[in-house]
Amino acid sequence: MDRMIGVIGGSGLYEIAGLEDPRWQRVETPFGPPSDEILTGRLEGVEMAFLPRHGRGHVHTPTSVPYRANIFALKALGVTDVVAVSAVGSLKEAYAPGDFLIVDQFIDRTFAREKSFFGAGLVGHVPFAHPVCPELSALCAGAAMLGGARIHHGGTYVAMEGPQFSTLAESRLYRSWGADVIGMTAMPEAKLAREAELCYACVAMITDYDCWHPDHDAVHVAQVMATAQANAGRARALIAALPGLIAAEAKGCACGRALDGAIMTAPSRRD
Ligand code: ADE
Repeated sequence: MDRMIGVIGGSGLYEIAGLEDPRWQRVETPFGPPSDEILTGRLEGVEMAFLPRHGRGHVHTPTSVPYRANIFALKALGVTDVVAVSAVGSLKEAYAPGDFLIVDQFIDRTFAREKSFFGAGLVGHVPFAHPVCPELSALCAGAAMLGGARIHHGGTYVAMEGPQFSTLAESRLYRSWGADVIGMTAMPEAKLAREAELCYACVAMITDYDCWHPDHDAVHVAQVMATAQANAGRARALIAALPGLIAAEAKGCACGRALDGAIMTAPSRRD
């Protein structure tokens, strides 16, 4: 099966360059419009779709991002693999601003978002113990290395509701849980991607030390944006390296079978 890479860009990443036949496409979904039009095109012969999570001009808050519409729209365009780039704060000394972390676990502390395509009338529970695609994550790590980023393999992302940053007590609590980075957007995106049977990898771009670090000021927007912009080049290089790596790979993961046995509603009730 031909693969199509969907890139969801976070703070500081609102477009990608170098696509053949670039076209911003409006996509309608049963969940309303996605965050923005979606930029499609080809990179090295691989079909690509790029969606700025917050919209061009950064108009969606982490809570107001239309996560279901975004994942539905990417799936409808034929995307098979979603690479989500997210700006995050670091909860560990060793993970410095400017580094990239390939996330492999999440703690979901968000509470004001629609988190599932299922609902009354159609009940389903997908497996989520391993919330990212290991193969796509490995490809992202390889692409990040080619792009010149300092990377960390595997780590836990705490997703908070926001939009305010954490209190010091919260930041310390998340550190005591062993979490590595904190952000506001990877949830429910990763859950919805699993329900849509898409491969999902999360590339966390570390922009700050949140507010726990005694030698650093508490996080503020200017710092997040300055570090995200300084690293946007490396994020773009990562994306540019993906097609060359993905083209050579046959899929061996189970992401595309996430719905097997997941639906509880009886067939007769689904007519
Ligand atoms: N995004 C970037 N830095 C963050 C932080 N410290 N907390 C939550 N989201 C963030």
